[in-house]
Formats: sequence, C-alpha cells, structure tokens
Amino acid sequence: MSAVHSAITIRRWLAFAAVVGALTLGLRQGICADGEGLFLKHCAACHGKDGKAQTPVARKLGVKDLSQSKLTDAEVEKQVVEGRRDERGNQKMPSFKGRLSPEELKSLIAAVKAFRK
Ligand code: HEC
Repeated sequence: MSAVHSAITIRRWLAFAAVVGALTLGLRQGICADGEGLFLKHCAACHGKDGKAQTPVARKLGVKDLSQSKLTDAEVEKQVVEGRRDERGNQKMPSFKGRLSPEELKSLIAAVKAFRK
C-alpha cells in the first residue's frame, strides 16, 4: 500500500469514528435524559424530593403524594404538559409545555412512577 493511500484510509477511519462517536453520544443523551435531576430541578419544590409532598408548601397547595398516585403515563404527561387549575381557574400546578424535550418528558414520567415502588 502506498503512503498516500494509507493516509487516505486513516482519514476515512477518523471521519467514520467521529460520526459513530457523535451518534452514540446523541443516542445516550436521548435515552438517558436525567429524569431524577429534572424532577429535582422542576418539581421537587412543590412535590418534595421523595415525591410525597410532605412540606408546608405542598400541604397548602394541596399537592398530591406521587407515591400514592395511580395515574397512567399518558395522564402524568398531560398533567405535566398542561398543568392544573382548580375550579375557580387558579393555577395549582404550572404547565411545562415547551419547557421539556420529548426525551426529558419521558424520563421525567419514569422518575415520577419510580416513587411508587
Ligand atoms: C407550583 C407547585 C408545583 C410544581 C412546580 C409541580 N407540581 Fe405537580 N402538582 C402540584 C399540585 C398542587 C398538584 C395537585 C393538583 C391536582 O391535581 O389537584 C400536583 C399534581 C401532580 C400530579 C398528579 C398526581 C395525581 O395522582 O393526581 C403529577 C403527576 C404531578 N403533579 C407531577 C409533577 C411533575 C412531574 C412536576 C415537574 C415537572 C410537577 N408536578 C411540578 C403542584 C406542583
């Protein structure tokens, strides 16, 4: 094999490795968006770190204990995306519409359901 030829081969390999690396990284981030971290960041202030809503704020707002929740994935998603208002139209839980990627939403739902175990 000539020197020129092997230099091209190496460059091809590097380009290939870069693409594969970028793809696996993207995939990993997509699948493993940190649901627990997201919960702590966006939800724990009201729901508590353990999801049980045992805080004065939570009692005042009427936050529900997520470890006792029976909602399906779709219902959890709806609650997070749309938020919740009481009968008088006052906001009880904020809407997270547009604030979470589909991957983040998915891992957040998994984190919410993990409180039930
Ligand atoms: C400002 C306080 C607040 C924040 C922040 C908040 N919630 Fe809530 N959440 C509530 C309140 C209050 C309720 C009860 C409302 C109701 O359904 O009557 C509730 C209810 C829920 C329920 C319904 C439980 C059930 O069984 O009915 C789910 C699921 C939920 N929250 C998930 C989340 C997630 C996930 C986040 C973060 C992305 C979040 N919440 C952020 C206040 C909050």
